[in-house]
Amino acid sequence: MSLSINPRAKALEVPGIRQFANQLVNFPDAINLTIGQPDFPTPISVKEAGIRAIEQNLTGYSHNAGLLELREAVNNFFSTKYGFSYDPQNEIVITNGASEAIDSIFRTILEEGDEVILPAPIYSGYVPVIELCGAKVVYLDTTKTGLQPSAKELEKLITEKTKAILFNNPSNPTGVVIEKETMDELVQMLKDKDVYIMTDEIYSENTFAGDHISLASYKELREKLFYIHGVSKSHSMTGWRIGFVMGPAVILKQVMLMHSYNSICASLPAQYAAIEALTNAKDTPKEMNIEYVKRRDYVYNRLVEMGLSVEKPNGAFYIFPSIKGFSMNSFDFATKLLHEGGVAVVPGSTFTPYGEGYIRISYAYSMSVLVEGLNRLEAFIQKL
Ligand SMILES: Cc1ncc(COP(=O)(O)O)c(C=O)c1O
Repeated sequence: MSLSINPRAKALEVPGIRQFANQLVNFPDAINLTIGQPDFPTPISVKEAGIRAIEQNLTGYSHNAGLLELREAVNNFFSTKYGFSYDPQNEIVITNGASEAIDSIFRTILEEGDEVILPAPIYSGYVPVIELCGAKVVYLDTTKTGLQPSAKELEKLITEKTKAILFNNPSNPTGVVIEKETMDELVQMLKDKDVYIMTDEIYSENTFAGDHISLASYKELREKLFYIHGVSKSHSMTGWRIGFVMGPAVILKQVMLMHSYNSICASLPAQYAAIEALTNAKDTPKEMNIEYVKRRDYVYNRLVEMGLSVEKPNGAFYIFPSIKGFSMNSFDFATKLLHEGGVAVVPGSTFTPYGEGYIRISYAYSMSVLVEGLNRLEAFIQKL
């Protein structure tokens, strides 16, 4: 057949996280520590709200921006916690997961040849979308600054081609939270720069040391900032596909159009479920965090006892130990660990070249799975 497809689409690869998870079918006895979704069920009242919506035939389209009631719930939930406010009428769009918010924003703002700066290592979902838009990714290496995005180093990378800078806080894959001092410095430096700021704070409800500070709470950035979030992680609702973006009305109007041509609106029953999540079930993340902290401490202590160098994560449900001492790249290490050690983890190189030399372990698994996984990892390392 001589019909071709878009070369940029052809260049897309199966995400590294999935590559490993997919291999697991061939290793039925392996312990899987790869997946980034809470292992808790969606709260009962949230499920019931979704079921009720279906039973009441609330199964059609909503407004393109999503139900006004949900946009109000989103604003109430985040404004009371983080000290900023967006107008539910025209500054919030409900999307199909945070993923679609990210896609709609990038497709709205990016032009051919633009550059987007990503502090790295970082979640693997951004780069393909940026490149599909014909833009180029520029990495800010955070591995030499304690996995914190240094304002000084970032400033050196900003040129007239820079269209946007995206922060993911707390971070997937490192679990690191941006420190207040670093954030202040970033804001001071960025406030006069002519670039969009995107802040993906989907793990903000899973922070374990003090209160989460949102970049959106800095008024200096308001006119150029997109705040990205969703209920996937906070309320264990990954399959319901509800995310949202907040930002200044004039740009959000365009993002909303992009979103409407992509998918018209988010699933209506899922929107009703999300209203329940952000109102009556708003404390769910706190309950999950009690469990995550126990697991985080257990996994961290075990890795330290094994002699691995690792930052103690204060957010999300990932930990990112270094495997640089084993003279193997992270893909080979993870492959060998799966084949010979019976544990699946994600190679750090999945999270940009700056993740090379690390592996990502998800602790969104029960304690018994973690115990067995770490026992196996320890036995594997001892034999290397
Ligand atoms: C940092 C980050 N942003 C966005 C997403 C996608 O979230 P959603 O399920 O809401 O599309 C993920 C999923 O793992 C993530 O880790």
